[in-house]
Amino acid sequence: MARRPLVMGNWKLNGDKSFTKELIENLKSELAGVNGCDVAIAPPVMYLAEAETSLIGSQILLGAQNVDVNVKGAFTGDISTEMLKDFGAKYIIIGHSERRTYHKESDEFIAKKFAALKEAGLVPVLCIGESEAENEAGKTEEVCARQIDSVINALGVEAFNGAVIAYEPIWAIGTGKSATPEQAQSVHAFIRGHIATKSQAVADQVIIQYGGSVNDANAAELFTQPDIDGALVGGASLKAPAFAVIVKAAEAAKN
Ligand code: 13P
Repeated sequence: MARRPLVMGNWKLNGDKSFTKELIENLKSELAGVNGCDVAIAPPVMYLAEAETSLIGSQILLGAQNVDVNVKGAFTGDISTEMLKDFGAKYIIIGHSERRTYHKESDEFIAKKFAALKEAGLVPVLCIGESEAENEAGKTEEVCARQIDSVINALGVEAFNGAVIAYEPIWAIGTGKSATPEQAQSVHAFIRGHIATKSQAVADQVIIQYGGSVNDANAAELFTQPDIDGALVGGASLKAPAFAVIVKAAEAAKN
């Protein structure tokens, strides 16, 4: 089954108002004419208003890097699904390793965020992936299965209909040391196969992005792999020309 690729930029804690506007203007001109790949950006939530305005007339979709499980009330510092929707955000990253590590987010808590996003009609981009130690101990598949199962056990496999998984091995994030296309493909095939044990139809349509040091030099080869449906890009998403090369590589490989 043909899946439409999705390349998404995770800007993390970077940028300001003018950077946001300028990067989006540059992305709009670099990506004009791309129609075989979905493209999304997740700027810091502070700049969603600037991003929403700058994206008017563009096919680039808006996302965010996190969300709270609560919709309203006394939850100081949190941002709800409805607030993200209010700014036109669609793809919401949850379970990023930086949040699992620095904010001690558990599998169960992340599954609640997944539920909140589905309830709101937003698209969860569920990040999973093993640490270097887990990788060296041969636990990659076990870790990925556990992180996926926390959602399946809470919500059922159908929750992955229309959702996105980003396989991001922690040892590859921000290190310049991407997984090889073969390494990534092997884990992506495992993830899809794991979901297929519950539902082949859900497994066939779920978008599985690779993330971890994706750049303009290595993207094309990653996208030749059948179960790599796009990328979640950190550092290289902050430069319009590099991000555009990655998007166009996905479009070329998957059409
Ligand atoms: P880098 O592309 O900077 O390695 O970051 C990947 C990532 O964490 C995207 O969510």
